Amino acid sequence: MNIRCATPDDLMNMQHCNLLCLPENYQMKYYFYHGLSWPQLSYVAEDENGKVVGYVLAKISLSREEDPEDSVPHGHITSLAVKRSHRRLGLAQKLMDQASRAMVECFNAQYVSLHVRKSNRAALHLYTNTLKFTISEIEPKYYADGEDAYAMRRDLSEFRERYGVKQEIEGNTS
Ligand code: ACO
Repeated sequence: MNIRCATPDDLMNMQHCNLLCLPENYQMKYYFYHGLSWPQLSYVAEDENGKVVGYVLAKISLSREEDPEDSVPHGHITSLAVKRSHRRLGLAQKLMDQASRAMVECFNAQYVSLHVRKSNRAALHLYTNTLKFTISEIEPKYYADGEDAYAMRRDLSEFRERYGVKQEIEGNTS
């Protein structure tokens, strides 16, 4: 099993995996929008034959214009899925950590956000217990079928200490 940054050639296979795994589906142009705008942030997991068995589709969200206080750069996970045949192998965890690291290294992101269905027990376990996301708010009827979403966030301080761009120390004359 191998985790690597997604290339434009992977986007159709990512869409295929998404269609198999999730009811939230997107047109091909939305995959291209991610791949062309933030080519560093989306990753695939491939099996020994190079077949895509999982992906994370990620982006950098612009600051909320209505709230200038919240103008920090942050990452957002648009979609994450691992094929049924390859679950519980740690692939989702690795995909999420790779994307988060790239958000810090390339865009100085301070946190990463996502939405998840209230009923999605597996994903909630992954986000809460393994990856230490916390619920920031509940968004009523967020999904097309009327289900509520948890909006979740993970602080990236730990990644910033490990992988962040080193700040120049002002007044350092040595
Ligand atoms: N039940 C309970 N805990 C789980 C489960 C589960 N079914 N799956 C993962 N976890 C937790 C466990 O703590 C697990 O650690 P462990 O195996 O040592 O106990 C930990 O998460 C890490 O799991 P991974 O192996 O990394 O997760 P996996 O590769 O199986 O993928 C995923 C998890 C992505 C949720 C997968 O089940 C899936 O593709 N589901 C359908 C699509 C989906 O729900 N995607 C997320 C939607 S939200 C969004 O896209 C932003």
